[in-house]
Amino acid sequence: MPDEQPPRRRAGARPSAVVAVVSALADEHRTRLGRPLQVLDLGGGTGGVAVPLAEAGHQVVVVDPSPDALASLARRARESGSEGHVTAVQGDGDRLAESLAGREFDLACCHGTLEFVDDPESTLRAIQAALVPGGLLSLLVSGRLAVVFAKTIAGEFEQARAALVDPAGRWGATDPLSRRFDPDQIEALLTRTGFTADHTRGTDILGHLVPSSHLDSEADRAAVAQLDELLVVGPGREFLRTLGHGLHIIAHRS
Ligand SMILES: C[S@@+](CC[C@H](N)C(=O)[O-])C[C@H]1O[C@@H](n2cnc3c(N)ncnc32)[C@H](O)[C@@H]1O
Repeated sequence: MPDEQPPRRRAGARPSAVVAVVSALADEHRTRLGRPLQVLDLGGGTGGVAVPLAEAGHQVVVVDPSPDALASLARRARESGSEGHVTAVQGDGDRLAESLAGREFDLACCHGTLEFVDDPESTLRAIQAALVPGGLLSLLVSGRLAVVFAKTIAGEFEQARAALVDPAGRWGATDPLSRRFDPDQIEALLTRTGFTADHTRGTDILGHLVPSSHLDSEADRAAVAQLDELLVVGPGREFLRTLGHGLHIIAHRS
């Protein structure tokens, strides 16, 4: 199938490191397949990942339970000229198959969403079932140790301790997240659900520890993001992924 022309790209903010990694991954896979990808973005929200992928010419189905997020997504896609490449489906990761009606995907993104579903294992199984053989997964989850460090630096020692010892990595009853993950744990979960993890990296290792008063310009934010990038690429520093506010895993369907 011939490659389609991507829709026009909107001038906008610098993409996050994760979006840049996913965009590069999608571009490589598109070259291998010789056509734009069919992409699932579960919990895609307002389209932070979906819209750049749609702008690049991929077809993206966003499944998210929030009507407000989906309305923002539609607006963002319209403004970027990529609305023909985005399908918004109001649905839930715990009942994913119902939302997808048999559609199949080359790439699935699940960023910041596994923390909210009832059963991460069954959600990952449903994502796996929706991927074609060899299909790719970009999974971004919250890291446990990052919140332990952040709470300690903030003087919230009880919450830090709770996050460290709680099996779900929660710092207390009012923690908005249902769970956080350690790298070994999320990789084991992926193996159990039919994926092979190819690469795990920590994201936002330093940035989330910096007081917001030190980050009052785009240049400051860019400088910290660059420090984060440099930090993880150095030899022997793979262990630092454990400290990422986010754990970004690239996997493929086994
Ligand atoms: C932290 S936001 C992440 C948004 C987007 N993926 C990103 O990275 O910018 C979490 C998203 O998960 C969605 N969400 C919450 N519960 C969900 C569920 N059970 N199934 C699927 N998505 C859910 C929310 O509506 C929200 O859009």
